[in-house]
Amino acid sequence: MIALSCTAKTIEENIENIEANRQYIDLAELRVDFLSEDEIEKAGAFPELAGIPVILTYRKPEDGGAAVPIDEEARFAILHRLFSGGYAYVDIEDDADPALVRPLTAAAENAGTEIIRSFHDFDAVPGNLYDRLTAAADGGRFIPKAAVMPKSSADLFKIIETARRLTDTAEGQEAAARGFILLGMGAYGFPTRILAGAMGSMLTFCSPPGTSAAPGHISPSELADYGYIGISRKSRVYGIVGNPAMHSKSPVIHNAWYAAAGIDAVYLPFETADPELIIEKAELLNLGGLSVTIPHKQRIIEVAGIVDESVSAIGASNTMVNRGERGWEAFNTDWLGFLEPLKDYALKGRDALVVGAGGAARAVVYALVKEGMNVQIINRTAAKAEALAADFGCSGGGLDSARSTEPPFLVVQTTSVGMSPDIDGDPLPDFDFSGVDIVYDLIYTPEKTVFLQRAGEAGCRILNGYRMLKAQAAEQFRLFTGCKANF
Ligand code: ATR
Repeated sequence: MIALSCTAKTIEENIENIEANRQYIDLAELRVDFLSEDEIEKAGAFPELAGIPVILTYRKPEDGGAAVPIDEEARFAILHRLFSGGYAYVDIEDDADPALVRPLTAAAENAGTEIIRSFHDFDAVPGNLYDRLTAAADGGRFIPKAAVMPKSSADLFKIIETARRLTDTAEGQEAAARGFILLGMGAYGFPTRILAGAMGSMLTFCSPPGTSAAPGHISPSELADYGYIGISRKSRVYGIVGNPAMHSKSPVIHNAWYAAAGIDAVYLPFETADPELIIEKAELLNLGGLSVTIPHKQRIIEVAGIVDESVSAIGASNTMVNRGERGWEAFNTDWLGFLEPLKDYALKGRDALVVGAGGAARAVVYALVKEGMNVQIINRTAAKAEALAADFGCSGGGLDSARSTEPPFLVVQTTSVGMSPDIDGDPLPDFDFSGVDIVYDLIYTPEKTVFLQRAGEAGCRILNGYRMLKAQAAEQFRLFTGCKANF
């Protein structure tokens, strides 16, 4: 189920948020701590106005609540007054004073309101996560809930393994007889927000667009883009390992293709300093393959059992496919993606100038040499251009060593200069584009860098990196699923 956290100041605004997201959500959580004082009194009517089951929650500041100090008696008095107004669930922290909890739970049970016993850890995943959840469940009487903050991929797996104990052992099942809620917060925990249902968690939380009630909340429509409701333990999991990874556009691209092809799979961002661990836990995740991004593209090759020829030549892999007992196979789809927008041009025997000599340039030079172009590489650090050129049998030098005779057919810009937010940057401000046919900048944010803008003004055909992004992803999709992506 999907629960919308309602954290507006007024009942009216919260109801508007429910209306705007109704098609995506199953229930709502009213966060009383965010309501202004006079609105709290109206909150008894909220479930009826919402028209869906509502969780009543009044969070203390130390548990992530709005920073309005309130003493415990007053907080419980408000919960007591409100819950009878048709709330389906009431959330009570597991460490609250038993003297206050007892009368509230008795009254809630009397009224048929389900009780969630929750705890929050904004600093870590506690070592006793499973024990604390089963204790909070009180022998299957309550729904235990934990929202914890993983600080590593190892922490992420502690959460997933805890969920496994709750779903797959007799003891865990007994404790979680009424269900459980278990979520990891922040970037490391993000996969648990999408896999919540598959992990056995009763629900996942989300926030209205533009807000975030807890670290890692996304909007209901973004959850729908992940295909949340269709994800089960049988779903094949794919994802991108990187550090960072949360900014990646790959999940949106891949998940749309799984949906269009009707494939039972989900693609997640795995922000991680430890991509090997993600691979080690492949079985637990039902992991079919990974996209790999900065800074892991080189080291990931070490864990591959089978290495594609392009990976050996480029020295980097952006795609890892799980071949089961045969191990993981490393591919590089960057160079193929790079070539896709150039497929209608005759490249063989023509001149290309590549600006930059980093990882991206390596894939570009590999592709262009494979196409039979005469490649010259120029770079701020001349020695790096020379080394790259030596690897691929072409010429290389400093930024001022661009051939001054014939303009090349193609110029490719591979550095990060000009990328958002530093959009005024230009790696070659004095370069004369006249006579160049195609200028290709791998950057796609902004759509048109200063470099591309100048090239366009000089009459060149211009390409940015967006199509390359889609094309390299399409090739990954084909490697992952055997299906062709339409893009
Ligand atoms: P990527 O994997 O994106 O290619 P990289 O391997 O770190 O990233 O390579 C960055 C490239 O951008 C390098 O060619 C780098 O030049 P240096 O080798 O001299 O470092 C180039 N680059 C980065 N910032 C630059 C700048 N301000 N001016 C010119 N070139 C720059």
